[in-house]
Amino acid sequence: MSNPSLLILPGDGIGPEVMAEVRKVIDWYGDKRGLAFDVSEDLVGGCAYDKHGTPLHDDTMAKALEVDAVLLGAVGGPKYDNLDFSVKPERGLLRLRKEMDLFSNLRPAQCFDALADFSSLKKEVVAGLDIMIIRELTSGIYFGEPRGIFEEGNERVGINTQRYTESEIDRVARSAFELARKRGNKVCSMEKANVMESGILWREVVQKVHDEDYPDVELSHMYADAGAMQLCRWPKQFDVIVTDNLFGDLLSDAAAMLTGSLGMLPSASLGAPMENGRPRALYEPVHGSAPDIAGQGKANPIACILSFAMALRYSFDQGDEATRLEQAIEKVLADGLRTADLLGEDGVDPVSTAQMGDAVIAALDASL
Ligand code: IPM
Ligand code: MG
Repeated sequence: MSNPSLLILPGDGIGPEVMAEVRKVIDWYGDKRGLAFDVSEDLVGGCAYDKHGTPLHDDTMAKALEVDAVLLGAVGGPKYDNLDFSVKPERGLLRLRKEMDLFSNLRPAQCFDALADFSSLKKEVVAGLDIMIIRELTSGIYFGEPRGIFEEGNERVGINTQRYTESEIDRVARSAFELARKRGNKVCSMEKANVMESGILWREVVQKVHDEDYPDVELSHMYADAGAMQLCRWPKQFDVIVTDNLFGDLLSDAAAMLTGSLGMLPSASLGAPMENGRPRALYEPVHGSAPDIAGQGKANPIACILSFAMALRYSFDQGDEATRLEQAIEKVLADGLRTADLLGEDGVDPVSTAQMGDAVIAALDASL
């Protein structure tokens, strides 16, 4: 049998340097655990625009549809701010999500014990936090039509459309209930059914999926604004949160910050199963391309390494190996290693991106 295939798209800014550390981890699994991957690499975002005049070349798109999983770094940077909207780096990422039909975006917000002091919230509010936000990723206001900037009388009007079909809500709700069963068995669905028809439909469909097929899972509904407030007030009340594309974008950034650093959080975007039974999948850190620190060895590679751990778990059925990697990272943090983003005022010297990666490898070695 051939090895599972991975397409790596490091992207822009700190993407390439954090991905270099992930490559070390991937190689480690090949050498030490007999888990070899066929790895290919390509361009996405601004670097793809520089070479091809488009943030995602058709050949890259085709490759992404062939492999078992895609691993992405980050896209974007100030150099590309004034490009036409249609070729902005973000369009490359959005095209991947849409054409791979990655409707279910898993964004864990987990507080590492060693970092509980680092949150802007009180330690008791965040210590032990472990929630999962499931964001619908291929529909809603990000993709709804009509959209555009139009002339209306003597002025222009900017239009985007929030649109959800029953089947789109149904499938993401199912993924939330399935995941909840493997965790705390609780789902909170968030929309704004008080002001949006799409929210009314969202609530109805989630409830129906629950009543028909997942009555064993505890389900609650919350308006998304109240949800944002509750996330800051007492986040540990949540287990799985399921929400639409735009609310999920906002709520996941807020939830991420509860844990202390955006530099720590991975994500998985999953679609329907392929012929081989694996879901179509793209894994990426939640953080962006951080152009201000790019190329200086300051970036934290942990979010990207944890994204590979999610790939091991969700694409390759290697839950135990994913746990091994997560524990290696916990150990490195418990040992006091910190990249610059994780430093307070306590005078500890930060380690570089590569030193952090090497420390994770050493911790993996020690786990054998
Ligand atoms: C995210 C990002 C993206 C989004 C951007 C880069 C298009 O903010 O993944 O959360 O808005 O979805
Ligand atoms: Mg976002």
